This record gives sequence, structure tokens and C-alpha cells, in this order.
Amino acid sequence: MRTQVGIVGAGPAGLMLSHLLHLRGVESVVIDLRTREDIEETIKAGVLEQGTVDLMNQTGVGDRMMRDGFVHHGINLAFSGTIHRVDLYELSSGRAVTVYPQHEVLKDLIARRVADGGDVRFGVSDTTVEGIDGDQPVVRFVHEGQRQQLECDFVAGCDGSQTYTRFLIPEGTIRTDFFRQYPFAWFGILAEAPPSSDELIYAHSDRGFALISTRSPSVQRLYFQCDPATNTDDWSADRIWEEIQARVGTAGATIKTGKIFAKGVLQFRSFVCEPMQYGRLYLAGDSAHTVPPTGAKGLNLAVADVHALDRALGAFYDAKDTGLLEAYTQTVLKRVWRAQHFSWWMTSMLHRFSEATDFDLRRQIAELEMVTSTPSASRVLAENYTGLPLT
Ligand code: PHB
Repeated sequence: MRTQVGIVGAGPAGLMLSHLLHLRGVESVVIDLRTREDIEETIKAGVLEQGTVDLMNQTGVGDRMMRDGFVHHGINLAFSGTIHRVDLYELSSGRAVTVYPQHEVLKDLIARRVADGGDVRFGVSDTTVEGIDGDQPVVRFVHEGQRQQLECDFVAGCDGSQTYTRFLIPEGTIRTDFFRQYPFAWFGILAEAPPSSDELIYAHSDRGFALISTRSPSVQRLYFQCDPATNTDDWSADRIWEEIQARVGTAGATIKTGKIFAKGVLQFRSFVCEPMQYGRLYLAGDSAHTVPPTGAKGLNLAVADVHALDRALGAFYDAKDTGLLEAYTQTVLKRVWRAQHFSWWMTSMLHRFSEATDFDLRRQIAELEMVTSTPSASRVLAENYTGLPLT
């Protein structure tokens, strides 16, 4: 088999890249070790930046998102007994976020790739990639019991944080020490309940952080800061609801409860590898970087990476121009580091650190007061939360 771009991983980065390349007439094959059902059902994040929404609409995969997603013009920061609204829309000159779950984005992209005759192989095994330092890399894998050999011009490593492709880059040519582990995690639940708030609430409290998010009028997504070693089985439904209510109640919010049908603990890490390319291999999304979820940036960064990679590959195929490909790491890392900073900033402003003194708590409150009452500071939050323009 031959294709132009072999894409390892059918997550947001891999599928969006394949879709964008198709629109410019470049062929790709996408492989993933997970089944289609697994990909379409795994619960992940849910907030799309304005640039992600615009790209989905402009490239014809936004219909369901426009119908079933929820446009939010603001977010709330709860602290010191009050809920403060940040008007994202006003402060960012008309930008907003759309709450639409990642697995729904993936369903839309898969459906469109299939409708366009795209080659997406699920449930593959024994993937290997060879020859990335030459100009004809080969991806080998087993699909439906058959050994396959895919010759390509380029390989895109879009295989998430459990990446295989990143490890193809020889040691000594890549830095992987930009890493931070946080001393807490998020306990996340999905519940059959009505929304407790029209817009997301990010809550700072003496008991630690909580986040009130949503999925639909009848399904809610809520999180609260917990110890990374927390066992979800130790938490009954009553205890979970009491904890969330205690964290937002002091600010005046009342949580509407319901049947909890999913529980999980999300670990918190920041990570960046540099460079994001080697020879004919280009990394995109979580294979190259991870952010803590407080800034809601993970999926959006993956989309931004492949938006740049698509243009760079386009310039190569249209005009044999390798300039954008050579500049890929430099181009996308600017945004990646901005998102790293934003996610770290939101995390450090809102969470309770175990070693925090009263000084640290008062400083956090002062920062939250600045962010919610000084227009220039609110604007920094709004512009970063709704997302910088795609490059
Ligand atoms: C979510 O709804 O899953 C969500 C929302 C906002 C975040 C993180 C996760 O910052």
C-alpha cells in the first residue's frame, strides 16, 4: 500500500489532519489500535475554542456541533463567598466557547472521513514505523489478521500521551524534560441531572477546587480536586454530592444532583517535547504535549497543531516548498507554551496546594479579585480561554 501521509492515531489530531489533507487533495491513511466504538465512546473534555469551532464549520464538519453544542459567552469564577462572571464574549471582541464533547467531535470526523472514502483502520496491532530519516518511511501493522505495509512520504505521530511515535526520535535530538507533575488530581463524574448553572463555574474553596460543567440539558459533568491516589470506590454518591456542594455552596451555588453513571480520576501533568519533528516524522497533539485540564486546552491544541501541519504539507505538495515544514516545531510551540502557561496559571490560581500557607491563600484571592475586577486582567483570561487565532 502507498499513501502520501501515514497517520498514526485516530484522535482529534489524526482525524482532523486526515480531513484537512483530503480537502486539499492530499491522501492519507489513518490507523489506530482502538476500536471505532472505543474511540467514539471514551469520555474526554468538552470545551471547544472559537478557532476550533470556526475550523469545523469552515471545513463542513460542524453541523451537529451547531445543533447539539452549547455556545457559552461567559464563565464564572467562584471564590470568597461570591460568584463572579467573566464575560468572555465582550472581553474578547465577540469570541466564545462551545461545549460539545470530544467524542462527538470524533464521531463527526470519522463519519465524514468514511463518507469521503477515507481510509481509516481501527483495531490494528503490531504497529512499527521505519525509515523516518529517509524520504520513504514505512508503517507496518496488522489489520483484520493481515500484515500491512504502508509506504508514505510523511508520518504524522498523533498517537496521544501513550505515544509510540515520539520514541522514534533518537535520544540526544529531543528534549523530554519539560515536565511537571502536580500534587493533586481531579475526581470527575457524569450524572443524569439538570444543569446547576447556565455557564461553567470554576470554584476556589478552602476544601479545594471544583468545576461545574455540562454535557447536555440532562447530563452534567462535574469535577473536584482530589488526591492522585484516590480510589473512586471509596466515594459514595452522597459523599460526592456533599463534597461538590460544600465547595461551591459558600459562593451561593446550589448543585442539582442525580444518578452518577461514570466516575474517574484524572491525573495532572504538564509536558512538552522539543522538537516536535524528526526527519519525515511530525508529532501533533498529546504525543508531543500535555496540559492540565483547567484551561480546557488539550483538544484545541491538537487541532491547532494539525492546522499548521496541514498548511506545511500543503506547501510541500503544491510547490515543493519545505519552509513551513522546517518551521513546524517553532510555529506550533509558541502556541503550545502559551497554553502551557495559561493552564498552569489557571491551575495554580484555583487549586489548594497542600503546602500552601495563609499567605498563599490570600495571594490567590487577590489574584482572583484582580482577574474578575480589572478589565485588562479579565481580558487576558477571556482571550486565552476562547483561544488565540489559529496560525
Ligand atoms: C469538561 O466539561 O470536561 C471540562 C470543562 C472545562 C475544563 C475542563 C473540562 O476546564
